Parts: sequence; structure tokens; C-alpha cells
Amino acid sequence: MSVLPNACVTLQLGAEDQRRLGAVCNAVYLSPGFTGEAFRAALAEAEGLLCSNQIPLGAEVMALAPSLRVISGFGVGYNNVDLAEATLRGIAVCNTPGVLSAAVADLTIGMIIAASRGIVANAAFVSEGGWARREAAPGLGWDLHGKTLGLIGFGRIGKAVAERARPFGMRVVYHDTFEDPGSGWQDCQYRPLDDLLRECDVLSLHVNLTDETKHLINRRTLGLMKPTAWVVNTSRGPVIDQAALTAALSVGQIAGAVLDVLEVEPPAAEDPILSLGNAIILPHIGSATVETRAAMLELAVANFAAVMSGNAPPECVNPEILDRALTRKAGPGNQRR
Ligand code: 8YV
Repeated sequence: MSVLPNACVTLQLGAEDQRRLGAVCNAVYLSPGFTGEAFRAALAEAEGLLCSNQIPLGAEVMALAPSLRVISGFGVGYNNVDLAEATLRGIAVCNTPGVLSAAVADLTIGMIIAASRGIVANAAFVSEGGWARREAAPGLGWDLHGKTLGLIGFGRIGKAVAERARPFGMRVVYHDTFEDPGSGWQDCQYRPLDDLLRECDVLSLHVNLTDETKHLINRRTLGLMKPTAWVVNTSRGPVIDQAALTAALSVGQIAGAVLDVLEVEPPAAEDPILSLGNAIILPHIGSATVETRAAMLELAVANFAAVMSGNAPPECVNPEILDRALTRKAGPGNQRR
């Protein structure tokens, strides 16, 4: 009888998913708020890790898991994983792209409309009694049609945002590593970064967090933007130098920001960005719909179960080492090479 591989699961799974995993591995399920000690103990034997993409998985964590063959994360972002180290160790890193693009793009459009029509300020005006007291309402908003939306990152989510911005009459320009937007996207033109920043009325960020994109929006690049421009971020907080953005917003160098992500999450209560009148902050809800979270879980479990049973997962960010991850036998095997 073959012995099932050990695994560590930090996601909260229903009975059906637990049964599904029970067929392919012996999983240790960690409850929310699990201790570092419990995590280390489970990792010591684990060939698979199914977890949130908020857990930092650097080289020192991987060194605690000598048999690890797969890290399956719940989310599209994998900046919590040291990908180079995982690849050296032959660990497949899996994520959940695609299934959340629509939800994130919907929220992005909602954030842009919230900015343009002062929805948050107007709702606060009413709930705080200003309307009932017949005080002057917040000032006028601005139209979306005829405005330029600058997208940094023109992948799945960036394109889903562009698709939704078109019927509002926004002109879309993008910056990415490729200058040809591809068939069906000729109305969305490429711009070098600085040109895009000078031109856009709304800047929206849709890039992975990497060494190249960290603090892409900083004192210098904010300085190129129009004083009427808004920044929208549903990607990762550190793509923006938050101290520089806070400074720019405080002096009205740009008009405002709507942020679903921050450099530190959750933020400290005294973080100055939280008390700015021209910053709207959401608690990282880009993918937070019932349907999207269910689809993400399904894909994260499918990725994990596939590798645990020796099959190629539907999604993998380092497919070049998949053969190694799938064929390695149980036991310490992921020494760096
Ligand atoms: C979070 C996200 O992962 O997919 C991503 O990368 O940022 C979000 O979907 C989600 O909040 C689960 O932690």
C-alpha cells in the first residue's frame, strides 16, 4: 500500500474539500491564529503547503521544510514567496489567476466612480447630519467620459479594467513591458511610464509586486502627475511609496487616492494616510465576493491536489521545475542546487 504524502493546510476548508484532500495526502489543518511552533512542526514533514498568500515564505521557512514540493497559495499575488529560492529547491509555486480578475476590475471601477462623484464624502455628509442641518454639501464631482485612464500593468486585471472603462467613455493608455496591446485592444495605447503619468486623469495600478515595481510610484513619479489626478491601487501597497503619496496628498500635489492596499496591512491606527480628507482607504477587498472567493479556493485546492497526486497543476508560476516537483520521492529532497 502506498503511503500518502504529508501536508500542511492553513486554509479553512469545508468537509467536501477535506475529503478530496484526504484522498491525496495526510494533511495537518492549522486553525486561524496558529502559532509559529505549530507551523514549523507541520512544515518539517510536509511535501505540500496550502495556505493564504499573506504568509511570508522566505528561504528560512523553506529550509524548515526539506520535503516541500508545492506551495499552493490562495490568491493571484505570490510576492509572499521567495520564488527564486522555491525554484532552486524544486518547489512548485501555484496561485489562482483569472478567477478574480472580474471582481478586482469591478472594484477598481467602483473606486474610480467613488473618487469622481465624492460618494464617500457625500454619504458621510448625510450620515453626520449635514444634509438635515441644511449645510452646504461637498463640492461637485467630475465626469468620467473624456478623461484618460492610465493603467500600469496591462495583463488580465488591467485589461478587465480597460474593458469596463470603455463604456464610460474613458480613453485608456497603458504602461507595461510590451508596446503592442494585442488584437482587440488597439484603442488602448502604450505609453512610456513618465508620459503616461503626465497624461492620465486617473492612474490605476495592476502589476505584481517585484523588485522592479516596488515604489514605482514615488516622489519623482508623483511629481509628474496633474494636480487634478487621482491614484487608484488594487495591486499591492508597496508599489507606491506611501510616505511620498501621503506627502503629495497633504499638499494637494495630486487630487486624491483610493487605495485597497497599503504598505503595511493592517495599518497602524496612527498611520497619517488614514486621516487625510482626500484618501479613501479600503481593507484589501479586491477579491472579496462570495463567488470569487469560492472560485479561488477551488483553484487553490485543485493546484494543491494535482501536485500531491503527481499531476501538473492547472496554474503554476514556475512551470520550469514542475517535473522535479512531481517526480521527487517523499523525504528530504528539495535541497538547493
Ligand atoms: C487576497 C489578493 O489574496 O489574490 C490576491 O493576490 O490580493 C487577494 O485576493 C485575498 O484577500 C486572500 O488573502
